[in-house]
Formats: sequence, C-alpha cells, structure tokens
Amino acid sequence: MKYYITTPIFYPNSSPHIGTAYTTVAADALARYHRLQGNQVYFLTGTDENAQKIVRTAEANNTDTKSYVDGVVERFKDLWRALDISNDDFIRTTEERHQKVVQQIFTKLYEQGDIYKSEYSGWYCTPCETFWMENKLNEGKCPNADCGRDVELLKEESYFFRLSKYQGALLDYINTHSDFIQPVSRRNEMVKFIEGGLEDLCVSRTTFQWGIKVPFDPKHVVYVWLDALINYISALGYPDGENYKNYWPADVHIMGKDIVRFHAIIWPIILMAIDVPLPKVIYGHGWYLTKDGGKISKSRGNVQDSFALIQRYGSDAIRYFLLREMQVGTDGTYSEDNVVERLNSDLANDFGNFISRSLAMVVKFRDGIVPPSGQEQALELELKALSTEVKKAVDKSLRKCDPASALEEIWRFVARCNKYVDETAPWSLAKQEDQRERLDTVLYTFVECIRIMAILTAPFMPGIPSKICGLLGKDERLIKWEEADQWGILEEGIKVQKGEPLFPRIDMTEYLTPEETKTVDEKQNAPIESLEMPVLGFEPIKEEISIDEFAKIDLRVGKVVSAEKVEKTDKLMKLEVEIAGEVRTIVSGIAKHYSAEDLINQYVVVVANLKPTKLRGITSQGMILAASQGEVLEVLTVNKRLPGGARVK
Ligand code: MSP
Repeated sequence: MKYYITTPIFYPNSSPHIGTAYTTVAADALARYHRLQGNQVYFLTGTDENAQKIVRTAEANNTDTKSYVDGVVERFKDLWRALDISNDDFIRTTEERHQKVVQQIFTKLYEQGDIYKSEYSGWYCTPCETFWMENKLNEGKCPNADCGRDVELLKEESYFFRLSKYQGALLDYINTHSDFIQPVSRRNEMVKFIEGGLEDLCVSRTTFQWGIKVPFDPKHVVYVWLDALINYISALGYPDGENYKNYWPADVHIMGKDIVRFHAIIWPIILMAIDVPLPKVIYGHGWYLTKDGGKISKSRGNVQDSFALIQRYGSDAIRYFLLREMQVGTDGTYSEDNVVERLNSDLANDFGNFISRSLAMVVKFRDGIVPPSGQEQALELELKALSTEVKKAVDKSLRKCDPASALEEIWRFVARCNKYVDETAPWSLAKQEDQRERLDTVLYTFVECIRIMAILTAPFMPGIPSKICGLLGKDERLIKWEEADQWGILEEGIKVQKGEPLFPRIDMTEYLTPEETKTVDEKQNAPIESLEMPVLGFEPIKEEISIDEFAKIDLRVGKVVSAEKVEKTDKLMKLEVEIAGEVRTIVSGIAKHYSAEDLINQYVVVVANLKPTKLRGITSQGMILAASQGEVLEVLTVNKRLPGGARVK
C-alpha cells in the first residue's frame, strides 16, 4: 500500500526551533511506521519562501532575499538531518518545478472563471500572511489568537478566488467524510467557520515583486498561501509525474492547529476547482508552549539552540520527548528540565535500565549465550498477551496520528518487563541448581522482550534498532513490525553483550535536592552485584562528622496540612507543612510512594534550615526526611503528641 505524508512547508524567515520541529518529528514517526509495515511511503517536507515577511526579514538583515533564504533553508535541512528525519523529498517554493505548477493552476482557475480581477481594500497581517476585513479585526489588530499584531491597510488591484462558490460543496464533503479533518475538535471549529460564510479570497499582490508572477499579468505575484498549498502536488510532478500518479491523494497532511484553516478551506477548494481528489486526512496538532504558557519565539528571547539540545541529549531523546509530551488535541509544555526528567525516568530508568540489567544477567549467568527457553509459566504467558495488546493499541494510535498514546502503550510493556525481572529474581534462581531450566526461560524471555522493544520504538527513536541489534549480535533485519507480538523469533545460542547504557542518566543535581537525586540514583542501573543480594546492598556509611557539624542541622517536627502531586512529574509532591505556626511549602520526591491522603495530618521530620531551592518553578523551603532501600521508601514520622515545630535531635 502507498502512504503519502506531508509536513507544512516552513517559512525560512528564521532558524527552526524545537517547537517547530514537532510537526516534522511526528510526520517522520508516522512515515517510519508505515515503511516498517512494508508500505510504499513518500514523505515530503520543504520551505515556503515567497512570503512578504521573508522579504522584510532579509531587508532587516541587509541581505538580498534569495541569499537570505538560501542560508536559512540550509539550517532547516541541517536540523532535519540532526533529528534523523527520513523525508523523501524537500521542496522549496522558489524552485522552478513548483513555480510552473502554480502558474498553470492559477491560469486554469482564471480561464474557467474561478479567479477574477477586482480591487482589494482591507487589511493584511504580514506575520500571519493573512487578509482581514475591517469587521474581523480585534481592536484594530490581527484577530488571530496567537498573533494580535499590527495589520496594514491595503488598497490594490487584485485577483480574487471564488471561495464562496464552493462553500456548499466543501461543507457537504466535510459532513460526509468524518475523518477528513482531525481531531474532531478542529473539525467542529472548521464547520462553524465555513457555516459563518466564505468570502472570495484575494490571491495576488502588486505592492512587492518577490514571489511567483501571475503569468498573464506579471505585475501581480501570487498570494503566498495559494502558492504554498500547491507544493503538496507540485513536488509529486502534477499533473502527469509518476509520483503524482502513485501517491496522490495524500494520506495525511499534518500541521499545527494555527494553519488548519488554510488546509481545510483554501486547499480543498483549489483541488475541487481543478478536479483533483482531496487529501484523506488533515491533522491539526497542538503547540509546544513554554512553562508559563507563552509562545516559543525568537522575539520573546526564549528560543534555545536546537542543535545544542540535540548534541546534549541526543536525537532519540529529543524525539521521544516531543512525541511523548504532547497529548492529542492539547498543547504541550516544553522546557529543558522536562526533557531531562523524561530522559532520566522513561529512557534511562525504565527502558535503558531493563535492557542493560537483563543483558548483564545473560552475560553473568550464561556467559552471554542466550539459552533455550524451557516451559513457559504464567508470567511469560502474561507478557505475551500484553505484547499483543500493546501492538494492537500502538497500531490504532498511529493510525489516528497519535504518537503520545502509542508511546504510553509501549511504556506499559516496558514497565511490565521491569516488573518481570523483580518477580522472577534471576539472581536467586542462579543459586539453585534445580532452577536451571527456569533461569534459562527467564533469560530467553528477557532477550525476546528487548527485541520487541527495539521494534516498537523504532518509528519514534530510529537510533535504537541498530544499537539493540548490535548488543544482540544481529543485523537490522531483526526489526519486523509484524513480529512485535510474535515470540520465539530469536535463536538460542546467539551471543549478546551488555554494552554501554543506551541512555546515560543526566545529572539532575541542578534540578533536584540531594534527597530527590538520591531517589533517582537508587533506581538507576543497579549493578549486577546488588541484584544478587537486593536486600543487602546498603549504601556505605559516609565519612565522620563532629557533633558540632551535626548540630548545624536544624531538624523539626512538621505537620503536613496539605499535599498535592506536582503536575507533569512522576515523583514530586508539593506539601504545605506547619512548623511552629509557620506554614512552609516543601517539594519532595516521594509521589511514587505516597498519595496526598497518606500524608495529610502526618507529623514528619523536616530539615528546617536548608537553603530554599526551586523545583519545577516552586520554591521549596526545607526537606522531608525519608528512609529508603532499593525500591522501598518510607517517610519518617513521629508520634502525634509532639506539635509541629518540636526539635528533633
Ligand atoms: N508556511 C506556513 C505553512 C504552509 S503549508 C502549505 C507556515 N509556516 S511556519 O513556519 O510558520 O509553521 C510551520 C509549522 O510549524 C506549522 O505547522 C506550525 O503550526 C508549526 N509550529 C510553529 N511553532 C510551533 C510550536 N511552538 N509548537 C508546535 N508546532 C509549531 O505556517
């Protein structure tokens, strides 16, 4: 089956940032998923170069427009390479192959009467490249919720496209094709907008010359949106190119919510007017915003260098973060500490740790040679059933362009595998001669689980398969989507190695108090020795201190008056603790072990003179004491006869 997927083409007026990268990474994951299924995939991205705002930016940089865009386009291409984007083509709207198709379509629309000449008198928002009538403006500014900037008055001779003529046909189409605009919230917005009435669209400009000339009236350049949308077919060689015949109509145009309107109205009407089938799906995702809910934008000075981020954390981790963090139909929050947290918890602790832990055991107990599986027991059967369930759910989510849910499902499998290690306790089996076959089965199951993880994560983190295949001594032919819920694929007798951790943990001391860092440390790549004796792996006693040094620590009883989980974290809990009449906020890494109800009204021990520190934007004034060993953590509490504020010494 063929699968044609596109990203929007990006304005090369400034270098891409991590928010802009989302669309392309999501499209790439979908393209890779379809390739893995054996589909014939065409994945297109590119740049939208004929916008007025680009002319202005180039002028502001004292450069001619073409040299300016050539430079920025290279940055886009570099970023896509750095993020392992597997596009089959990259279209630039300054290329001749595109320009000639735009001119051909413009002429056809004019000749058949769908484009006519008149005069435009109204407003234009250059940042949005959108025409606005006076009555739509919001206090004289651009009414687009994400913009709100100044608009300019235009009064010029223009060509107009008869959108109004196609209003009924478009509504009928949307109403009879329920999957056309997704998710459903965007579809409803569009229906409402169209029902409000479509006005004919101004599709040419005469006040600047940068752009594609109207062939029969060259003082006009084609309006940038009409020009840009046509890229989806010009890149395929419309009207008679082989790729066009093979791949059109597109299976999905994926884009941010801000530009669904252009794709759901102007684009289908162009296609209807030239008698070309409509794309199957127009999918509008949310935006990545900063922690305070603002836009990531150069003018706000909050754009981080995407290349530096990729260098610091790796392309797979950045891709994982972007795809996992944004839920369908909503916006996502981007911040570097969110990236670090996801990397440490999901990738280092859960995913990477399972792989290194289990391979280390194959190395330790069977010299790295994968043993044959013996009789399977309930635990193995449960894992098998789960792999089928997870694969089905992943297929379903990806068919709905929902990578976040797909990853959530895969991590259900990863979590179950980690639990399987604890349940089967191979370090104990290894000590019992009569458990040899059982240990073989467990070790074989580990390696099969790793193979399955390599397949399931391949569309999202394309660097993983080759790394895992390297550890298993296999080549990438092992990665077959249809085998993600099949078992017994790996032959016994292959030699595996432990290798380096796939995702080394990032030091979080900058982000967390020592207490929280410790909790993370304990879960991290537990060395094989401590796995053998999980109960005895105590931390060494620290070096001696004097009583005076100890006396500097002011420990107090504190009464927990309220507790709540810190949003979007797995382990942080925000507590309000009363100490001698003063209520303090303390953020503590105990949320995996306690619910809010467990803590409220408890009398805990607080380090009361610890310097305040900021965690997830919350100032934490103190630290709660807890004892921990392995996975177990217990907060120290005292008898309720003592009031909050009592000294602990
Ligand atoms: N050139 C037009 C698209 C024409 S398609 C025929 C355009 N370009 S853009 O560069 O402004 O935006 C490209 C894509 O990036 C859009 O899908 C937009 O929604 C997306 N994003 C820009 N900033 C974003 C975030 N902060 N988060 C997620 N996506 C964001 O519009």
